[in-house]
Amino acid sequence: GGAPTEKETAYDPLIIAHRGASDLEPEHTFLSYERALEDGADYIEIDLRQTKDGELVAVHDEDVDRITDGSGKVEDLTLDEIKQLNVDKGQKILTLQEIVDKYKDTAHYYIETRTDSKENIVMEEQLVSILESQDLIEKDRVIIQSFYEDSMLKIHELNSEIPFVRLLRKAEVQELDDETLQHIKKYAMAVGIYAGSVDAELLKQIHDNGLQLHVYYYDDEKELAPKMLDMKVDGFFTNDPAYAIDLVKEA
Ligand code: G3P
Ligand code: CA
Repeated sequence: GGAPTEKETAYDPLIIAHRGASDLEPEHTFLSYERALEDGADYIEIDLRQTKDGELVAVHDEDVDRITDGSGKVEDLTLDEIKQLNVDKGQKILTLQEIVDKYKDTAHYYIETRTDSKENIVMEEQLVSILESQDLIEKDRVIIQSFYEDSMLKIHELNSEIPFVRLLRKAEVQELDDETLQHIKKYAMAVGIYAGSVDAELLKQIHDNGLQLHVYYYDDEKELAPKMLDMKVDGFFTNDPAYAIDLVKEA
């Protein structure tokens, strides 16, 4: 009983380091993850792709052109070929296994699944087995996000303990209704939406349907971030966790 303490009532959204502290260090490298963890992020976000020989690597784009000195689609390159490529600051593209073997249960992982270029579900079994190799699911260190419901349902069949965030595209957000949210609620704890599509009414509708809201950004984060925090969204992607944590303190 008694009055709630300040700590219990303080606004404390999940701070998710988007591709690591990717404003400060090359995305999806140990430098960017390290910086995110040092700066106090709750979760490091990891985008996954599958190589030609079936390994899971932390790469956002379909191809390696933007982030390395090489070129080609991840799914057309073997892990050996990918490991020969150079990322800025002497970094290499990382496998998910390397990432979880380094941080083990000292980090929380917010992992995004994607399909291959033909929209096939390809990575779920291997993903669950890598996470289980470090007991990360039972230790509650993992959230999985995806635009692909089938991916999450498949993962749920393999391990029913993982919390999911259903990412919604702009067109899906425009048509979002209670029925859809109730369907999502059957397997997910939150929806992930581009911050520019979010207003107070939408947040209320999501909450009324028993879901949380995590918001992400493209290039206009600095403009949208204070507005999102003002609305008290439940989770918050950022390319600069230290900056976001400062904003939360001011909110
Ligand atoms: O995962 C949420 C957000 O990261 C989706 O956008 O393109 O950066 O993966 P993207
Ligand atoms: Ca992502």
